[in-house]
Amino acid sequence: MIRLDKYLADMGAGTRQEVKKYIRQGRITVEGDVVKKPEMKVDETSQTVAFDGTTVGYAVCEYYMLNKPSGVVSATSDRRDRTVLDLIGDKKRKDLFPVGRLDKDTEGLLLITNDGALAHRLLSPKKHVDKCYFASVAGVVTKEDAVHFKEGIDIGSAKGREMTMPAELEILISAEVSEVRLTIQEGKFHQVKRMFHALGKEVIYLRRERMGSLVLDRSLKPGEYRSLTEEELKGLL
Ligand code: URA
Repeated sequence: MIRLDKYLADMGAGTRQEVKKYIRQGRITVEGDVVKKPEMKVDETSQTVAFDGTTVGYAVCEYYMLNKPSGVVSATSDRRDRTVLDLIGDKKRKDLFPVGRLDKDTEGLLLITNDGALAHRLLSPKKHVDKCYFASVAGVVTKEDAVHFKEGIDIGSAKGREMTMPAELEILISAEVSEVRLTIQEGKFHQVKRMFHALGKEVIYLRRERMGSLVLDRSLKPGEYRSLTEEELKGLL
């Protein structure tokens, strides 16, 4: 059971002060009856709350798979750029966030949720959850590179060493512009680009394709999203 004003604010109907005003104005019904007390407790699992006649369902946790397009930042708000959350038109919760950051020019799988425990499990390097990327790389990627990736690469700067955990490199095309699939289990800042840079090669296109058991749905065009299926969610939880 939660307070009616919290229920509405959680679902993005307005700030706590705004929804209190809407409730006092008689715009909110619970089970069809107008309720004017913000402190009234409602059962979020069974009762129907409506705002100006439109049902406001309560979602404790939401889970969306987004095919992130290039040009959008992985943040909850930004002064200049569009964010990945701006792309989720259906969202109910106002506390959603992207699980891990993809660079502005990176595309692909991004989980958007408000489930902090799940995010921690997916992101913590100690949990060894695979993050699998497809990359186009300027430069001939070789078997020797794959060995370096397996051993861990120093992506540090003048300030000091920064070793990566072992990573699995699959070479799809080895040419002037190579194509690879790289699986890492951590998420250091610009990690994939810095790993290739350390070997004298530049990533020119990057797309995340998998995170743990969650695979990018290729029917989603860049910029499109959908809720996770029950099966996908079970796999993650
Ligand atoms: N590694 C990068 O370099 N960029 C990303 O967006 C993700 C992983």
